[in-house]
Amino acid sequence: MTETSAHKGTDGTDGTDGTKDMTVVVTGATGRTGRRVAEAARAAGLDVRAASRATGFDWRSRSTWADVLRGADAAYLAYPTDVGDPEAADAVGALAREAAGLGVRRLVLLSARGEDQARPAEEALTGAGGQWTVVRAAWFAQNFSEGPLAEELRQHGELVFPAGEAGEPFVDLRDVADVVVAALTSGDRYAGRVLEVSGPRLLTFGEAVAEIARATGRELTYRYVPAREYGANLAGFGVPEEEAAFLVDLFGTLLDGRNARLSDGVQEVLGRAPADFGRFVREGAAAGAWAPGASDGA
Ligand SMILES: NC(=O)c1ccc[n+]([C@@H]2O[C@H](COP(=O)([O-])OP(=O)(O)OC[C@H]3O[C@@H](n4cnc5c(N)ncnc54)[C@H](OP(=O)(O)O)[C@@H]3O)[C@@H](O)[C@H]2O)c1
Repeated sequence: MTETSAHKGTDGTDGTDGTKDMTVVVTGATGRTGRRVAEAARAAGLDVRAASRATGFDWRSRSTWADVLRGADAAYLAYPTDVGDPEAADAVGALAREAAGLGVRRLVLLSARGEDQARPAEEALTGAGGQWTVVRAAWFAQNFSEGPLAEELRQHGELVFPAGEAGEPFVDLRDVADVVVAALTSGDRYAGRVLEVSGPRLLTFGEAVAEIARATGRELTYRYVPAREYGANLAGFGVPEEEAAFLVDLFGTLLDGRNARLSDGVQEVLGRAPADFGRFVREGAAAGAWAPGASDGA
């Protein structure tokens, strides 16, 4: 899917430290958010240092961190596969301390709205002593076009997931990326802030799949399964028992209605309304994102 970031870089008012000669480390740079953060950062004139295992950076191997961080001004942190992973807090805290020691002035952590399991990682960042911003995102709209859920929908025409009738304001990742880049480049304006970002409209998973079905003309359906049953399915597909248990716990709480509300972070930071799920669907359908043989990023 071709995407053009609407990010305009720094805002030119007080609190801006300028992007000239600014080097930013982008973790997860081959992933859904990192790819877009890197794109938006380059569009804003930053020098981007892409970091993932493909470039020798491994969250689970501390000896790989210093080479990536040294000489950088700021970093975007996206912990795989989930910020609520029991190992995330130790890793985020240790990386934040190492970054501060190496002179990396500002860290922006991607977190999740309403995810209690994510709080230890957030606290590890905020307690590390450096300048920080946490961007807590709603469910990504792009979960429906990239990654395992999208693959299931494309290939089988059905999405099976433990989300019931609670509405979720799916957020477009271009908005997330633009907010992250604003936090990285706007001086201390967003330092010490938790920015919650969502899309502008609540939709159930069933309604989201129905919108995609209408736009593509395909018979795509959504089927609810209780979280425990979903966990058993995952274990059957070879997902390690501990990870399946974590996901059962996560989805059992995240999707219980606590997140059925809008957040105003996109409007506050970017001065514009967040993109609607309908735009994501129209553009994805036009790009063939849900064609049976398509792959991520079609
Ligand atoms: N999905 C949602 O709706 C949602 C909502 C809010 C927050 N989040 C948060 O988003 C984060 C995930 O971000 P994402 O969706 O952009 O990622 P993603 O698409 O799942 O991609 C993962 C990225 O991390 C890299 N990676 C994987 N293992 C690594 C390791 N051991 N060391 C270093 N890099 C590694 C991968 O590249 P390589 O394979 O090259 O290493 C890839 O670039 C999670 O923390 C999650 O909690 C997700």
